[in-house]
Amino acid sequence: MDFNLTKEQEMVRTMARRFAEEEVKPIAHDIDMSGEFPWDVLKKMGKLNMLGLAVPKEYGGAGVDSISYAIVIEEIAKVCASTSVIMAVHNSVCCYPIYKFGTPEQKEKFLKPLARGEKLGAFALTEPSAGSDAGAVRTKAVLDGDDYVINGDKIFITSGCEADVAIIIVSTDPSKGTKGLSTIIVEKGTPGYTYGTVEDKMGVRASATSELVFENCRVPKENLLGKEGDGFKVGMTTLDGGRIGIAAQALGIAEGAMEESIKYAKEREQFGRPIGKFQAIQWMLADMSTKIEAARYLVYRAAHLKDQGARFSKESAMAKLYASKIAREVTSDAVQIHGGYGYIKDYAVERMYREAKITEIYEGTSEVQKMVIAGQVLRE
Ligand code: CAA
Repeated sequence: MDFNLTKEQEMVRTMARRFAEEEVKPIAHDIDMSGEFPWDVLKKMGKLNMLGLAVPKEYGGAGVDSISYAIVIEEIAKVCASTSVIMAVHNSVCCYPIYKFGTPEQKEKFLKPLARGEKLGAFALTEPSAGSDAGAVRTKAVLDGDDYVINGDKIFITSGCEADVAIIIVSTDPSKGTKGLSTIIVEKGTPGYTYGTVEDKMGVRASATSELVFENCRVPKENLLGKEGDGFKVGMTTLDGGRIGIAAQALGIAEGAMEESIKYAKEREQFGRPIGKFQAIQWMLADMSTKIEAARYLVYRAAHLKDQGARFSKESAMAKLYASKIAREVTSDAVQIHGGYGYIKDYAVERMYREAKITEIYEGTSEVQKMVIAGQVLRE
C-alpha cells in the first residue's frame, strides 16, 4: 500500500493551489455576496485544461487520473466552493458521461468543446417529484420522426441557467419505471428549452442553481446518450463519479476552514496569550485535523478504485457521506474558534460554514449515500 502521491499528482496540486490562491481566493467573498457567476475564472480554468481534467488528451482534455481530479477540486474548494462545484459538475457529471457513453459524433460535437473549456456543462436529474427517488423522473421525451420532443421541468440544477450543454434524464417509456428512463444531451438555445427560477441559496451562492423548463423542445434523436431505457444506469454511474467530486469539495472546504483556524489560533490573543495555547482550542484543532485526514483517504481511495476500473459505488458514497459530515463539523468548530468574528462576513469561515452544508445534500443526500452503502453491504 503506497500512501504517497505520484510526482504528477503533486505537480497538479501545486498548479491548482497556485491558481486557487491567485485567481479564485480574491473573488470568493465578492461572488458569494453578489451571486455573480464566475465566468472570468472559468475561462482561465478552460485555458489551463481544468475543465476537461479527466478527459483524454485526444478529446481536448488534460487526461489526468481521478486522484488528480479530486486534488484539483479540493484545492479550489479550499478557497471557493461555488467555483469548485461548477467545475465538479462540468467535469464529472457532464464531460464524463459523454466520454463513457457517447458516440464518436457526440464526442466530437459536445465533448471536445466542453473539455477545452469553450462550453460549460450541467447535469439535470432532479425534478419537483424526483430527487432522492431518481427513478421517479416525469420529464417526458417522445420520439417524433427524427426528433425527441421533450416536456417537463428540472429543478436545483447547478449552472443550469448558464450552461451551454446539459445532460438530462428523461422518461421515454413511463410504463417501465427506471427501465423506461433515457439520457439526452440538450444545447442552450434549442427552441422550447429555457430556464426558470434561479434559487437564492444559503451557500455556494455564485453557482447559479436554476430550474430548467422544456416545452415541446425538439432535440435530434442523435442526442440520445447511450440506449433508450439505459437512463437510470447512465445516471447512477455518472453520480458514482460525481460523488467523488463532491466529497473532494467537502474535503477542501474543511481544509480551508482548518487553515483559517490555525492562523487565527496563532494570532488571536486572550488572557495574555494566543488562544492556540489553550487546551480547549487545541482539542478542537486535533479533532478537526484527524477528521480531515480520514476523509482524505476515503476520497482518494474511491478515486483510485475508479481508475482501476473497479466498481466504486459504495466507496464513493462512503467518501461523500463522511467528507460532507466532517466538513459541516469542522467548519462549525472553525466558527467556534473564531468566536464572534466567525459569525461575521469579514471572516471566510462564516462562508465556509454555509458552503459545507450543501455537500450533505447535492448529488444525493447523506441518507441516499447510506442507502447505497447499506444496499451493497447487504449484497456482499
Ligand atoms: N451503477 C450502475 N447501475 C446501478 C447503480 C450504479 N451506481 N445503482 C443502481 N444501478 C442499477 C441496479 O443494478 C438496478 O439494475 P437492475 O434492475 O438491472 O438490477 C437498477 O439500477 C435499479 O437499482 P436500485 O433498485 O438500487 O434503484 P433504486 O430505485 O432503489 O435507487 C438510489 C436507489 C440509490 C436511492 C438512487 O435512486 C439514487 O442514487 N438516488 C439519488 C439521486 C441523486 O443523487 N440525486 C441528486 C442528483 S443530481 C444533483 O445533485 C445535481 C447537481 O447539480 C449537483
